[in-house]
Amino acid sequence: MSKIHAAITAVNGYVPPYILTNQELESLVETNDEWIVSRTGIKERRILKGEGLATSDMAVPAVQGLLEKRGISADEIDLIIFATATPDMVFPATANILADKIGATNAWGYDLQAACSGFLYALSTGSKFIETGAYKKVLIVGGDKMSSIVDYTDRTTCILFGDGCGAVLLEPDTEGNGVIDSVLKSNGAGRHYPYQKAGGSLNPASALTVEAREHFIHQEGQQVFKFAVTNMADSAAEIMERNQLTGDDIAWLVPHQANKRIIDATANRMGIGEEKVMINIQKYGNTTNATIPLCLWDWEKDLKKGDALVLAAFGGGFTWGSIYLKWAY
Ligand SMILES: CC(C)(COP(=O)(O)OP(=O)(O)OC[C@H]1O[C@@H](n2cnc3c(N)ncnc32)[C@H](O)[C@@H]1OP(=O)(O)O)[C@@H](O)C(=O)NCCC(=O)NCCS
Repeated sequence: MSKIHAAITAVNGYVPPYILTNQELESLVETNDEWIVSRTGIKERRILKGEGLATSDMAVPAVQGLLEKRGISADEIDLIIFATATPDMVFPATANILADKIGATNAWGYDLQAACSGFLYALSTGSKFIETGAYKKVLIVGGDKMSSIVDYTDRTTCILFGDGCGAVLLEPDTEGNGVIDSVLKSNGAGRHYPYQKAGGSLNPASALTVEAREHFIHQEGQQVFKFAVTNMADSAAEIMERNQLTGDDIAWLVPHQANKRIIDATANRMGIGEEKVMINIQKYGNTTNATIPLCLWDWEKDLKKGDALVLAAFGGGFTWGSIYLKWAY
């Protein structure tokens, strides 16, 4: 019997309608459009506005659209893995909240936290449940309401992030398409570069932590940048070497969208021209766990069955890695 791979059989995304432009940021902090575009490639990002709306509220339309595209109902889903750094609440898991909101009554699920690499970790983990034959329909969601943890008085972080959610469905494939290989890594020595200081068991929420603005993202931008440029490219190069791939064999590089300069460095290292790199950072910014599925959603119409894709990411923790997959439809 031929090997079972986990193939992506549907993709969908959701971004909220409110557009936060660089011009609007100029009115909040001392920055300017030219600096932001030249240093990051970002022109605008989406923000989820409105009382009582959380990460799961972006996942609902993303997943409902996905189910509609695939022509299946929510109760056919076996498992939901929700990659997020901004869960609706610390517990219960946002995967459970999503399952309830969409009526996925037969699914179990859990959240996966690996900062900006979460979607890759979730895709790789979910694939194993398909490859073993345990499940037939695994939903991988990557979504973040970054605006809930961004300090809009800190110009070094508020220009970078946006809100959004993307989702893919994994199903068994015996034609050789689907997830072929993954290189996933982490190094906890990097845990103080991008991080949220308070709100966990180390520094529970208190009036003092709120006053010190410790519930927002803090980061050492240059440290993260240096780390990302080296390691995202290294993991992509490693997966290419392991699978005897050259730049010519790869149809698309699907990189985490954190900084256009980091994406360019990765593509150069892989020997891939810009025409084969998915880049939508200019309109969404860094949506953390949503960047990669939002790219797949934006480029879905250009993808062909059998196309070789390399997905690459890095994130807080540090976490990083690459996945090699063959598009299945
Ligand atoms: C954050 C980042 C864009 C900053 O770019 P950089 O080229 O490293 O810029 P620096 O931090 O060296 O700052 C250069 C100058 O610009 C200033 N600056 C910082 N943010 C600014 C802003 N929004 N507007 C204008 N000037 C700004 C700095 O204060 C500094 O001024 P100085 O030279 O007078 O001290 C870049 O480091 C980066 O993208 N890092 C990775 C972050 C990331 O991806 N995080 C998510 C993890 S997945």
